[in-house]
Amino acid sequence: MNHRVFLNGDFIPEQQALIPVMDRGFLFADGVYEVIPAYRGKLFGVLPHLERLQRSLDALKLTNPYSQSRWQSIFRELLPAQEDAMIYLQITRGAPQERQHHWQGQTMEQTVLVKSSTMVSPQQPKANQGAILVEDQRWQRCDIKSISLLPNILARQQAAEQNAVEAIMHRDQQITEGSASNLFMVSDGEIITPEVSSHILAGVTRKIVLRLLEREGIPYREARVDQQQLMQADELFITSSTKEICPITRLNAQPVGDGEVGRLTQQVFLGYKQLIHQLVTGSINEYEI
Ligand code: PDD
Repeated sequence: MNHRVFLNGDFIPEQQALIPVMDRGFLFADGVYEVIPAYRGKLFGVLPHLERLQRSLDALKLTNPYSQSRWQSIFRELLPAQEDAMIYLQITRGAPQERQHHWQGQTMEQTVLVKSSTMVSPQQPKANQGAILVEDQRWQRCDIKSISLLPNILARQQAAEQNAVEAIMHRDQQITEGSASNLFMVSDGEIITPEVSSHILAGVTRKIVLRLLEREGIPYREARVDQQQLMQADELFITSSTKEICPITRLNAQPVGDGEVGRLTQQVFLGYKQLIHQLVTGSINEYEI
């Protein structure tokens, strides 16, 4: 793996990439991020990720430092050609002289970090993976991919302590999403996922899955899901750029359906893998995803 990172305009060794202690990302979690997967050097979903980055930046009144093509050339410079990897990028408001909550009147340069790391892409849907249900303790703007992730990391830690791979969150009985993933449920042969709102992150993987369902003629619906429905689901899976399609076969230590990876989950897993294969072999290009 390439241990150079991109920091504020330069490609430098990761050990030399240092951030001032006054950085507002460090002091206030005042920044945004993106995680973009890449297979054998090819970016997967780069345009929707960059579009979501723009929406997050706009929501926090940050400026986009680079054009879409400049971003892509930075990513390409860091990506290994023959491995699967993820690009992590983060932009913070920068380091002012004084610690003040507001930034009005302070002059500073935004901090921009891009790094690439190894990503292990699952070859088979993993069996025997649990999730727990927890209360969603986040704010009202979960559609922004903010680096402020305390409720998410506390929920995920709680899951890890119970040997579960994800914490699925609910707000007022309604299911929102996982701590770092979107949720899909299968009920009576239909796939249901919570609709996009300011209470969830509009996942790029989620969007790709919905397109896949449409293309394959699998019945699906974006709708409200409550805790009761979730506990009675036939199948569950979560989606994210790094986890791809990840079956959940136990919920709060109870089996989901028959406790095995379900038929529709398998089908979505294979459809997603097929898309990756098409990208890697060149039958579709990076902008078609
Ligand atoms: N997280 N919801 C939340 C809260 C997330 O943090 C993520 C992704 C998703 C799925 O989004 P996408 O399909 O675009 O990856 C949904 C990334 C992977 C992370 O924080 O590492």
